[in-house]
Amino acid sequence: MNLILMGLPGAGKGTQAEKINEKYNIPHISTGDMFRLAIKEGTDLGNKAKSFMDQGELVPDEVTIGIVKERLSKDDCKNGFLLDGFPRTIAQAESLQSLLNDMGQSIDHVIHVSVPEEILVERLTGRRICPACGKAYHLIYNPPKEEGICDKDGSKLIQRDDDTAETVKNRLAVNIEQSKPLLDFYDEKGYLVTVNGDQEIDKVFEDIQLTIEK
Ligand code: AP5
Ligand code: ZN
Repeated sequence: MNLILMGLPGAGKGTQAEKINEKYNIPHISTGDMFRLAIKEGTDLGNKAKSFMDQGELVPDEVTIGIVKERLSKDDCKNGFLLDGFPRTIAQAESLQSLLNDMGQSIDHVIHVSVPEEILVERLTGRRICPACGKAYHLIYNPPKEEGICDKDGSKLIQRDDDTAETVKNRLAVNIEQSKPLLDFYDEKGYLVTVNGDQEIDKVFEDIQLTIEK
């Protein structure tokens, strides 16, 4: 099963991706996570991505497309994959289309997790993540069992550099502008399904499962 998760920053893509990955056992490929790992490790890729991410801008297409191409060529993607946060531009969507053609694969569903803009700021500024495993929590909506500590591995939770009020504003503006043509692109191809992301986390996941298993 080949899936794409779309949605504005804070819509809950990463949260739902973790559940999809657990249940359907397909690799979760998040371009944002790949960039954050590269920044942590101080690689060339990380150096290229950092200034864009810190300002809430998109990383240039050629960089992003390159890392996804490389990732999709790995063996664990042969029986399906879940793309989270990619594609984000028409150029990325077209490159993905031709890459999948070459691989003899196609997309099964593009799941758009839809959440009203006014809710997203609070979700993003209240998010805390685990620097070790990447799991996202929320101070109010999805708190860890013990305050400030990851349930999975006991690490101390931190705030993402781009979750400050100032960067969040630009991230949302940039992504709102990019997302409309992309949603139209997939709608015209008949892949797009929209799920209401403004519900409890488990309810959103139920709706996603209904879509996948239909
Ligand atoms: P990326 O890491 O992809 O960030 P994003 O798209 O901004 O999305 P987020 O990770 O912020 O949100 P999410 O939808 O995963 O929400 P989450 O589940 O954490 O990208 C970061 C940057 O990398 C970009 O700005 C760009 O610079 C670069 N980049 C990445 N991909 C790129 C690409 N393809 N092209 C170019 N540049 C690229 O949830 C958010 C919070 O809400 C959490 O606290 C969570 O606990 C809570 N929550 C989740 N669901 C619910 C719910 N149902 N109810 C209440 N709270 C909820
Ligand atoms: Zn953790």
